[in-house]
Parts: sequence; structure tokens; C-alpha cells
Amino acid sequence: MAKNEHKVIGLDIGSAKTTVCVGSTDAQGRIEIHSASMVKTRGVERGVITDLGEVAGCIEEVVKKAENKLHSFQGSKYSRIKNTRINSVFATISGEHILGNNTKAVLNLSNRPVEIGRKDTQRAIDSAKYLSASVDRDVLHALAQEFIVDGYKRIKNPMGIFGTRLGVNLHIISAGASYVKDVVTVINRAGLDVEGVAYSGFATSLSTLTEQEKQAGVILLEMGAGCVNILFFKEGNLQYTGVIPVGGYDITREIARKLNIDLPQAEELKLQYRNAFSNYGDNESTSGEKIIIKKDASNYESINRKQMENIIDKKLDEQLLLIKKDLELAGIISRVKRGVVVCGGMSFMDGIIEKMEKTLGLKVSMGIMRGFVSSSSSLISNIFYSTGIGLIMHALGQKNTDNKKAFATYDIRSKIIAKIREVYEEYF
Ligand SMILES: Nc1ncnc2c1ncn2[C@@H]1O[C@H](COP(=O)(O)OP(=O)(O)OP(=O)(O)O)[C@@H](O)[C@H]1O
Ligand SMILES: [Mg+2]
Repeated sequence: MAKNEHKVIGLDIGSAKTTVCVGSTDAQGRIEIHSASMVKTRGVERGVITDLGEVAGCIEEVVKKAENKLHSFQGSKYSRIKNTRINSVFATISGEHILGNNTKAVLNLSNRPVEIGRKDTQRAIDSAKYLSASVDRDVLHALAQEFIVDGYKRIKNPMGIFGTRLGVNLHIISAGASYVKDVVTVINRAGLDVEGVAYSGFATSLSTLTEQEKQAGVILLEMGAGCVNILFFKEGNLQYTGVIPVGGYDITREIARKLNIDLPQAEELKLQYRNAFSNYGDNESTSGEKIIIKKDASNYESINRKQMENIIDKKLDEQLLLIKKDLELAGIISRVKRGVVVCGGMSFMDGIIEKMEKTLGLKVSMGIMRGFVSSSSSLISNIFYSTGIGLIMHALGQKNTDNKKAFATYDIRSKIIAKIREVYEEYF
């Protein structure tokens, strides 16, 4: 089998769809996305694996699809990637078990000022990680927000600065260890190695938000099938991470329950009558429109389109209120200067932007992907790949900065425990 060499594979196992993206760094140092594939997910609920066999099957399917796509490329331009075999992946972790918290640590360096080096910054980060570590949780990301040298705050990079005490404020994103283990197990079962894992919402933020937005204060709302990922950035740093276990699937389920129809039909109706092209809101001409629903093999009924829109609206309103409550509790709304960027499958629901603006009282815009090049224009516009592409950006970014520690691996706990001991011994 050909080795992947510089290619990085991002695998996003969502509640509704599983995607594989293939990328690398080009000669100019830009991130280049070569290919992306998608299949429908089976065996995942609210971001969490409920059937290992089903999910392993989906992974095999999507990987085969991605490889076939690459193999079909014609011409010498693609000779570098044509024969790519996917043997190992970077994968996303999702679900309500994801937690974000802000933490800090201070290291005494010396009695007299010493020059701060890479080892010191890493020790400071590791000791903060240690303070928030626990046996049942894996740290996925330990993101340094600022360093503090002898009381001076807002230092982005303390290396080369002289000081006696080094402090760090971090945003730590952790996940339930057993859920992470399930993801690794299912990928291994599909015959692949796991090079690293990352929180899905964080991956999406990398391909959808600009540095200016993150600096000014922006919320990313990723509304998928099973979960809403909420991320708040300010002063260039991630300051809040939250996951609410609601999504497009709840709306589908509500349609099925209220109309007494099966889930596939409810999903089809939802997509047909409430996507961005369905003229939602054009009440005069569409609200009286009849929709035929199939109750069983020989039993059909008709309902008013308005009736279905009411079911959707009610559920959507409930979800937006939950999001608002979460943002209020976290004290975020007043700190936002660049509004809300919304992505995930639910962002395609017609009327969602207006509804969100009204509920949250903030400017809302649709997420668009950026920060990479691709010879495929359909990739550039397909926001469904934003998580997989963000994952590649993260993986390549880590490789480039040679700071792989920040990219969590599946055996992160044993590494942390080893590091904890080191930090602990240095402390006492
Ligand atoms: N055009 C559309 N109009 C309305 N809803 C849509 C549209 N396209 C997709 N959706 C809904 O978006 C959801 C899928 O979103 P997405 O692909 O972001 O989920 P996921 O990443 O698989 O799940 P999660 O991240 O929550 O685990 C489904 O509930 C689907 O019905
Ligand atoms: Mg998703």
C-alpha cells in the first residue's frame, strides 16, 4: 500500500452524515483540499456511537468512496494524490459530554529573572491541564489564551521574555474518556489507525471563522442533526464551549410524531418544504397548499402546508430559546461584536436566520468556508464539509508548528499521567 506521506485525512462521524476529507500542504504552504466524500450515518445518536458495527460499516463505505474519487482523477496534475490509500485518519469527537472550561496555572521559574523557553511554556500549560485532569475525561484541546509574566498580562508568546513567574490562562476542552475510546475502537474496527482526535465544533471554527471575527467577539453556532455546538471567541481566543443535545433530528421526530408518519417520510417532508428554496414565509401563496402524507401502505391523507410549518416553527423556537438561555447563562451576548455565524445542516432551514436574529437580538450570518485552496469548486461551497476540512487544518497546523501534543491522541490520558508526574515532581 502506498503511504499517505504528507496527506492528512479528516473523518467526521456526525449523527446524520459521515464525511472524509483529504488534504495536504501545497508548495506555497497553503492548505489544499483534494477530495471529500459523504455517506449517511447509521448507529450514532447525538454525536455518540450507539452501534459499533453500523458505524464501522459507514466508515468503510465513506473511505472507499473517497479513495475511488481520488483514483478517478485524470492527468499528471493529480499524480501525487491519485493513488492515495487511506490507512489512518484524524477524527472528530462530538456530543453532550464535551465540556469547555477556563483554567489557569502559575509556575515559579526562579528567584532571579530567567529567559523563558519553550519548555517553560509547555510546563505551564501541562500544569494547568493537570489541575483540570480526571481519570474519566480526556483533554482534547488545551488552548492558551494568554501568558502572564511577573504580573504582566496579555502576553501571547512569552518565549525570550525574562521573568521569575510564568502564568497561563487556558481554555480546556475535554470529552468523556469512554466516548473517545468508542470512536477509536470503531475506526480501528473499520481497519484504520487514529492519528489524533479533535472536538468537532472546534474543527468547524477553523474553517469558518476569520481572525478578525475571533478578535472582535463572535459566536459560532453549529446546528447539526443531534447537537448544537456553541463556541464563543473574543480577543482571538476561544472563551466558551457548550454543547446542547438538540438538532434537526428532533424536528424530524416531531413531524413524525404529530403527523403519525415514519421518520424517513418526516425527514423528506422537512427537507422538501423547509429548505432554503421552499418559499417559506410566502404565506399568501403557499400556506393553503396541500401536502399529501402517507399514513401506511394504502392510506394517504392531506394536510395544509401551514400545519407542517407550525410544527417545525414550534420546535425550532424551543431550540433557539435553549441556545439563548445557554448564552445568557455564560454571559456572552453583551460581549459579541461580530454577531453569530451559523452552520451545520440546520442552517439551511429557510427562515432560521431571521428567527435567530429575533430571538438572540444579534446579527446572524451563514457560515462560509475559507482558509484553503481546492481545485474543486463544489468543495469550496459545500459547508457540510466544514468540520472535516477544519480537522485537516488543525492537523496540518499542529504538524507545521511541531506541537503535536496539543492535538489529542487516543492515549492522551497515559501521556497526561506521565506529564502530571513530571510536573508534580518539579513542583515539590
Ligand atoms: N436543506 C435543509 N433544510 C433543512 N434541514 C436540513 C437541510 N439539509 C440538512 N438539514 C438537516 O440538518 C441535519 C444534518 O446536519 P449536519 O449534517 O450538520 O449533522 P451532523 O454533522 O451529521 O450531526 P451532528 O454534528 O449533530 O452529530 C439533519 O437533521 C437534516 O435534516
Ligand atoms: Mg456535525
